[in-house]
Amino acid sequence: MTTSAISSTEQTISGDAANGQTASLPEHDVTDRSLAAEGLRRIEWAEREMPVLRLIRVRFARARPLEGMRIGACLHVTTETANLMRTIVAGGAQVALCASNPLSTQDDVAAALVVHFGVPTFARRGVDREGYYRHLNAVVDTRPQISMDDGCDLVSLLHRQRRDELANVVAGTEETTTGVIRLRAMAADNALEYPIIAVNEAKTKHLFDNRYGTGQSTVDGIMRATNVLLAGRRAVVAGYGWVGRGIAARLRGMGSLVSVVEVDPIRAIEALMDGFEVRSAADAAAWGELFVTATGNVNIFRREHFGLMRDGAILANSGHFDDELELGALREMCGQRIREVRPDVVEYDLGDRRLYVLAEGRLVNLAAGEGHPASVMDMSFANQALALEYLVKHQAELGRDVHTVPAEIDREVARLKLEALGVHIDPLTAEQLAYSKSWESGT
Ligand SMILES: NC(=O)c1ccc[n+]([C@@H]2O[C@H](COP(=O)([O-])OP(=O)(O)OC[C@H]3O[C@@H](n4cnc5c(N)ncnc54)[C@H](O)[C@@H]3O)[C@@H](O)[C@H]2O)c1
Repeated sequence: MTTSAISSTEQTISGDAANGQTASLPEHDVTDRSLAAEGLRRIEWAEREMPVLRLIRVRFARARPLEGMRIGACLHVTTETANLMRTIVAGGAQVALCASNPLSTQDDVAAALVVHFGVPTFARRGVDREGYYRHLNAVVDTRPQISMDDGCDLVSLLHRQRRDELANVVAGTEETTTGVIRLRAMAADNALEYPIIAVNEAKTKHLFDNRYGTGQSTVDGIMRATNVLLAGRRAVVAGYGWVGRGIAARLRGMGSLVSVVEVDPIRAIEALMDGFEVRSAADAAAWGELFVTATGNVNIFRREHFGLMRDGAILANSGHFDDELELGALREMCGQRIREVRPDVVEYDLGDRRLYVLAEGRLVNLAAGEGHPASVMDMSFANQALALEYLVKHQAELGRDVHTVPAEIDREVARLKLEALGVHIDPLTAEQLAYSKSWESGT
């Protein structure tokens, strides 16, 4: 493993982590440290929309529940993640961060994390595969006791190539659906070596982040990349899970005619009764003008479908990995006739028709946009912070398995969010409480 591009310097940090003292910059590998001031401004802008995480940070700074822990995080390097890193540092932990996707890093945020918050950060937007894994390895080199993952790449690296460091790790968290699926497969194979909390499974995560966060930011990413009119456009959403539901609803809100492609009969009925047409992938390929995948599965639109698509069709993905569109096949079909026509838009010329792929088939909301709005990440990352606190206290009691976020944490996050939004709800009256627990009363 090489870490040659990774550096630390004597410039001093200036944000929360400096605590009024002079400290050298931590080890890091970021694109341009001079972007730090811009990153700081954007991190502070996001913080305004993250009141729950801010409350947790204040409490963590007092109680220091993570004191002395070393945490290794592999997350999208965005303004919201920066605020999570600040919360973890306030809680007393040392944290090192790398990106969970080569195209989602916001270079100004990475710079600000190093310069203003003293967080060892290894992330450059557009890094190649070798650089991506060099960054993950740099985080593993900090000997984490807790892993934080978004997509399971860090956990997978620890279990497959860095078993030397596995014994140090006592617990972990996982942010997204695809990561949880991979972890459950590991647990089923008896291969998972430590307990992991599936943050994605908190209701205050997937009901809001996956649905409303990805719904809005996916449409935003498509608009930023293409500036096409969505009203009246025939859009196909593949996958009607939490993410797909959000994208389909938001595209409809923009006036698109939306069809859904599903493989699960229950989800397909749900899409139908939500008012969408449901089509097979082949039927949708011939019908659609805009395609968005959000399945967590592979090769949803592939060679046989590209051959059916109309001239000008736009293809994007919002699932975790860049394998939902079979781009290898599309490249073969086009030979040399591939060119970038706008930032994040590549034209594939099939001879008689041209198709346009956004953000290299990587998650379009993060690669062509800024990812989820901070307000929704407030709840996801509040779950992350509280899950870390829980793991520090309870990791010894948890088996080597995938665990759900305790219900009391989930409810607490919802309660704090409502409070921050100034929304009041009623408690049950004593009579209602007794009624809800009784079985004697009836017709
Ligand atoms: N872009 C983002 O910021 C972001 C945010 C959250 C989740 N994600 C990712 O989005 C993906 C979907 O997450 P989710 O929470 O909606 O998962 P989910 O499990 O709720 O939904 C996935 C849906 O896809 C369907 N599906 C599977 N294979 C299919 C196929 N071949 N054709 C059509 N449909 C198929 C499934 O039946 C299911 O209904 C995951 O990869 C997840 O990690 C991305």
